Amino acid sequence: MSDKNLKKHHAHLCKQINQHNYQYYVLDDPLISDAEYDRLMRELEKLEQEHPELATLDSPTQRVGAAPHKDFPEVIHTIPMLSLANAFDEDEMRAFDKRVRDKLGLDVIEYAAESKLDGLAITLIYKNGKLIKGATRGDGFSGEDVTSNVRTIRAIPLMLRDEYPDVVEIRGEVYLSKQGFHELNVSRKLNHEKLFANPRNAAAGSLRQLDPAITAKRPLRFYGYSVVVHAGGDYPDTQTGILKQIKQWGLPVTPDVRAVKNIEGCFKYYQEMSQKRARLAYEIDGVVFKVNSLEQQEKLGYVSRAPRWAIAYKFPAEETTTRIKSIEVQVGRTGALTPVAKLEPVFVGGVTVTNATLHNEDEIHRKDVRSGDEVVIRRAGDVIPEVVRVVRKKRRKGSRPFSMPKSCPVCGSDIERTEGEAIIRCPAGLFCSAQRIQAIIHFASRRAMDIEGLGDKLVEQLVENNLIETVADIYDLSKEQLSSLERIGHKSAANLINALEKSKQTTLSRFIYALGIREVGEATARNLAEHFASLGEIRKATPEQLEQIIDIGPVVAQHIARFFEAQHNNEVIDKLLSAGISWPQETGAASAKPLKGKSFVVTGTLESMTRDQVKERLQSLGAKVSGSVSAKTDYVVIGSNPGSKADKASQLGITTLDEDELIRLINTD
Ligand code: IVH
Repeated sequence: MSDKNLKKHHAHLCKQINQHNYQYYVLDDPLISDAEYDRLMRELEKLEQEHPELATLDSPTQRVGAAPHKDFPEVIHTIPMLSLANAFDEDEMRAFDKRVRDKLGLDVIEYAAESKLDGLAITLIYKNGKLIKGATRGDGFSGEDVTSNVRTIRAIPLMLRDEYPDVVEIRGEVYLSKQGFHELNVSRKLNHEKLFANPRNAAAGSLRQLDPAITAKRPLRFYGYSVVVHAGGDYPDTQTGILKQIKQWGLPVTPDVRAVKNIEGCFKYYQEMSQKRARLAYEIDGVVFKVNSLEQQEKLGYVSRAPRWAIAYKFPAEETTTRIKSIEVQVGRTGALTPVAKLEPVFVGGVTVTNATLHNEDEIHRKDVRSGDEVVIRRAGDVIPEVVRVVRKKRRKGSRPFSMPKSCPVCGSDIERTEGEAIIRCPAGLFCSAQRIQAIIHFASRRAMDIEGLGDKLVEQLVENNLIETVADIYDLSKEQLSSLERIGHKSAANLINALEKSKQTTLSRFIYALGIREVGEATARNLAEHFASLGEIRKATPEQLEQIIDIGPVVAQHIARFFEAQHNNEVIDKLLSAGISWPQETGAASAKPLKGKSFVVTGTLESMTRDQVKERLQSLGAKVSGSVSAKTDYVVIGSNPGSKADKASQLGITTLDEDELIRLINTD
């Protein structure tokens, strides 16, 4: 074959394969068998082996890319990835619909009805039609760059079809079908690997694999549900239109979409999908309704981190019956004693459940739950399974009511019950090994210090073998100490030492969150880090000063102040700091500064803000604002009557934002 013919033949094969992917994943209408598809792939592979110059990055053979890298780089989402408000019953749906109608002053609303699969949100960026980036949602402001793994998902085209703007950003869900999940777990079982608890975890675990070759073997699927409107594009004006557009670009979209009218239309769709659910090839945990008109969406806007124009109407939790083998009392991080039912394993809501929470003593007595009882248990989404009620008819003779222990089952301290609270606690704090273990697990967790490999079991082992006592001790661990433990090889010990070292570079808000102060979650930690310039300031803060911060009331302020008063805590913090834990000083919490390191130029007039206000806000989020556009500029904000800066931005191919995009970017909470 001549060079020209070779090229042509190659292009033809690529086109055929891409078309078959489209038929299969997008249109759900395969034209050829799997065997024929494989034959085409093999032919293409052979051709490229003989003529490697043909194997360009956009060839269907090149989905599995380069060698594994060490880590996933951070990606800042130009427009935050939001989540959805939930409704669990008809009243909550009616309230949502009423808010929409009142705010728009309309009686009739058209909604786009979609199904909601339980997977993992990702965003895909195409430049000039080519897939250049895939990123996870992360905390909504920044996620992980998983491009090389996303490229292995065959439902995601490497090149868009049809016509497209220069930059296209599509958001959607990566998921596994019921069968895909089942097969994956079967093969893991055969290989003696840990089973995934549910399809969502399996999808997340697969996408966060460092080796794309492994991701490629997982049967991951994708569907799109929204497009981020970037300047310079011409987009449809309804959600259903947007979904059609995504499909035309060659990506699958959320299944069973249709436009419905008013709340009655929503209820009808919900009923239909509830019935169809069991027959679907994938798990759905509810349906989503979105105001169909994008213009109306814009009028409705956002509250906190969710749009006012959309809602997820969740299916009720699944229930089943099983027997309680025993009732155990567990001690949590804050000393709270929680009774837990150990169950005969039972499959419910897509996973095998062996434990269910009984909440607290009052709950147990109210439901009169006893060891040996047959019980109804319920599991919804990610929520911990719970015991709903006892099947009284099946109660065994001689069973006795359960009573909570008077002393801590772990350290033996006398327990306390605060007046008016249902929870009883072990007051021993970090002297109780259960609380120590939980505190360390929390410290190492992904959203805290993110120490990969330091999981629950290992922490238990370390504490039980007296290798560590407080969180600060983990940084003293040596490779030898670690590999002396059961089930830890040299390799994992070395990996853990690296992970520990890596975790030392953190942010102030992560560090505060990691300390596990009562009632201080991620949001409060972020507020603290943003409000006070340094850890020193936070340590000195009085309850009155702390109450100045949004969302911090007198109780939380007391918890924080008391935490930093305790000598023991101060010793631990000092030890952590001298172990080398640090964060960028000048910026406080990097997570509260999602635009750190980004440079902006603003041109033209904005309607809702002055130039100075924009500048101040951008700077408070960590961005640099400069007066002239250069190759180093990351974003140019374009208002009305922009000057030559807008032209310069387009010449240099710099991302531009209009006022709405800017507002969504800077309204981070
Ligand atoms: S729209 C601003 N549509 O559910 C609205 N989300 O609970 C953003 N999800 O993070 C989401 N199916 O990962 C939308 N048809 C659908 C969806 C969907 C599943 C996920 C998505 C989101 C989460 C929110």
